[in-house]
Amino acid sequence: MAVPKIIGLDIGSSSVKMVEIDRSKRGYELQYVGMAPLLDGSITDKVIKSSSALSVAIGGLHKNSKSKTRNVAFSLAGRSVIVKQVTMSSMSDAQLEKQIDMEAEPYIPFDIKDVNLDFYIMGDRPEKEGTMDVVLVAAKKDFISEYLGLVQSMNLTPVVVDVDPFALEVMYEFSYPNVQEEVVALVNVGASTINVNILKSGASQYTKDLPVGGDSVTREIMRFFDVDYERAENIKRGSQMDGVNPRNLRKIFQRSVDHFVSELQKILDFFSTNVSYDPIQKIFLSGGASAIYGLTSAMESELNIPVELVDPFRSLRINEKAFDLDYLHQIGPSMAVAVGLALRDEKDKQV
Ligand SMILES: Nc1ncnc2c1ncn2[C@@H]1O[C@H](COP(=O)(O)OP(=O)(O)OP(=O)(O)O)[C@@H](O)[C@H]1O
Ligand SMILES: [Mg+2]
Repeated sequence: MAVPKIIGLDIGSSSVKMVEIDRSKRGYELQYVGMAPLLDGSITDKVIKSSSALSVAIGGLHKNSKSKTRNVAFSLAGRSVIVKQVTMSSMSDAQLEKQIDMEAEPYIPFDIKDVNLDFYIMGDRPEKEGTMDVVLVAAKKDFISEYLGLVQSMNLTPVVVDVDPFALEVMYEFSYPNVQEEVVALVNVGASTINVNILKSGASQYTKDLPVGGDSVTREIMRFFDVDYERAENIKRGSQMDGVNPRNLRKIFQRSVDHFVSELQKILDFFSTNVSYDPIQKIFLSGGASAIYGLTSAMESELNIPVELVDPFRSLRINEKAFDLDYLHQIGPSMAVAVGLALRDEKDKQV
């Protein structure tokens, strides 16, 4: 069996996920999938607060995986990372590479010397001759260093540094190659962030990270029922319900779902007024918090767009003797980013 070249490592606010995909001649096969929950406060606003907790989680997963590779693709998010679509004068990839600092400077709210930059040329802008659309990705160097330092301290080699919305796109391209709808939105509802990536004919048109997620539901359960974080997480997932009035719990879910949906509505409105008139035909929903009671149905009814829950394993070969299919099905939406990272190639650029 071929040695997998890259491990997908998704360092989320609530858990670390690891995925390995074996790329042999027979096709792509799932080799390893693992998730290690983090203690509350290990990562706050995407900033690493407890390197030791993360080391234990990452080290444990890597050991479990029995992987022979140490190459990893991981992703960054949060306030120190900017993903922006801009319009600039048409030029070649090589030319832009040379002058990226100068071209990007007006769009980046940090000192250009303090960031690492990457870009992706989307293509010419038909409405305005001589211009092209470019996606800029900028991440603060000290922020990247924190994550790089963590990964390297585990004796792992970071070969790709990605951002969540693009990892989702890679997962989607691979997992859903035959989707009929032309314009789709990938929506990943995590613990602290909702990532959105709107694609047209498979190419990203607009991305946005919203600083809201399932963690706010946990906090509200903690406050309302006066319980600790762990218990609140369990209540949220439907266990440890003694002393919990289901009607009150449903109200909490309802409020959060309404908030998520109205934030999403704003993004979709922005897209349709500023980016493209094309109606979004389908939403592919992922992230652990996609399981929040009532979210899918509220999105369908309020946004008026059909929603499909993502299964990032659907196009992979799965050895049924090694994996429990029900478990894979259950954790699938949470693993969307990690699968996208595991599908990255070493030649993919770094931020
Ligand atoms: N069955 C469930 N019902 C409701 N919420 C759930 C369920 N399972 C997980 N969640 C919630 O999903 C969130 C975790 O999702 P995910 O793993 O995608 O986030 P993350 O990657 O750790 O965070 P982020 O990407 O925002 O930094 C948590 O808030 C968790 O409580
Ligand atoms: Mg996440």
